[in-house]
Amino acid sequence: MESIIKTWLVVLIVFLSANYFKQCVNGKSQVPCVFIFGDSLSDSGNNNNLPTSAKSNYKPYGIDFPMGPTGRFTNGRTAIDIITQLLGFENFIPPFANISGSDILKGVNYASGGAGIRMETYSAKGYAISLGLQLRNHRAIVSQIASRLGGIDKAQQYLNKCLYYVNIGSNDYINNYFLPQFYPTSHIYSPEQYAEALIQELSLNLLALHDIGARKYVLVGLGLSSSTPSLFNYKLKSLVEHFNNKFSADSKFIFINTTLESDAQSDGFLVSNAPCCPSRLNGLCIPDERPCYNRSDYVFWDEVHPTEAWYLLFATRMYDSSNNPGFTYPMDFKHLVEQEIEMEYDITSQFSASS
Ligand SMILES: *[C@@H]1O[C@H](CO)[C@@H](O)[C@H](O)[C@H]1NC(C)=O
Ligand SMILES: *[C@@H]1O[C@H](CO)[C@@H](O)[C@H](O)[C@H]1NC(C)=O
Ligand SMILES: *[C@@H]1O[C@H](CO)[C@@H](O)[C@H](O)[C@H]1NC(C)=O
Repeated sequence: MESIIKTWLVVLIVFLSANYFKQCVNGKSQVPCVFIFGDSLSDSGNNNNLPTSAKSNYKPYGIDFPMGPTGRFTNGRTAIDIITQLLGFENFIPPFANISGSDILKGVNYASGGAGIRMETYSAKGYAISLGLQLRNHRAIVSQIASRLGGIDKAQQYLNKCLYYVNIGSNDYINNYFLPQFYPTSHIYSPEQYAEALIQELSLNLLALHDIGARKYVLVGLGLSSSTPSLFNYKLKSLVEHFNNKFSADSKFIFINTTLESDAQSDGFLVSNAPCCPSRLNGLCIPDERPCYNRSDYVFWDEVHPTEAWYLLFATRMYDSSNNPGFTYPMDFKHLVEQEIEMEYDITSQFSASS
């Protein structure tokens, strides 16, 4: 009996270290791929060629980014750019609009400035790729991955290991519910009902993602501080709880509580009530105007989007929240990527294959 246990232990240790080694050799990242859904907080160029006013591929955007203006709505890297670096990726996850070849295996960024959970969000100002359309783009990528990896089963196994980062919903308030002159939602729904309707629609999209292989999800709450969006945040947290129970065997969801604003001073930001770049009426930077010099003193880059300095603080806390309990729930990125959701299946299939 004892020797059997020993043999199993040896097999297990060999398997674990082989797996560890494989991770180190293949590009060093802690997960093989990251898929990004969202709005201008994560967009990295998807809007550049769209008929929309939500564009940022001009100076001074990108002033602190190695490639200059790319369509990121900030001076440097976004939060998810920083997260992917912390996860060990050598390159940023490319935007869907600019993806090619085997790049898709490392993940795709579908985020679009102005986008909401609801289809009509932002439509009064221009085009945006709503969450539903982002999911449709993801389906197209999944079928390309399937043909590269030799079938949908292999693709599913691979996609199970990826991270799915979803940061969307602010525009459903600022470019929908809060603009009653353009959108009927505030006449149709009470704040409570609207938050519920958004969560319902988000939840259907998350289930659809699960059907095509998503197992590790990061759901980011809204940073808007008024009480109406905070209803959404509480419901989002409950949804995470619900899904973690419902899918306890095969999936993990985490919620990020972005309600940090009051900490700006103690975190070393000197200016939290003015943007760094001179901004237009729509809140975006005026092209070619000189931005503030000391950008890391500022929370806001333009009227609506944070600076890279703020994203850095935010991303570092999402990745490791041991000093900020409550910022991530029920665990941070670091622990999410360590969750061995597939490991048990891998071990069993190894044994059944070899016996
Ligand atoms: C699109 O891809 C090209 C070639 O890989 C690259 O030079 C360019 O910077 C990319 N643009 C964006 C917005 O990522
Ligand atoms: C987020 O954190 C703030 C500050 O700690 C707290 O007041 C709020 O209840 C939290 N929100 C959620 C949805 O848990
Ligand atoms: C930015 O730096 C300059 C000196 O370089 C300083 O005079 C100014 O007060 C700083 N601005 C803020 C908002 O801290």
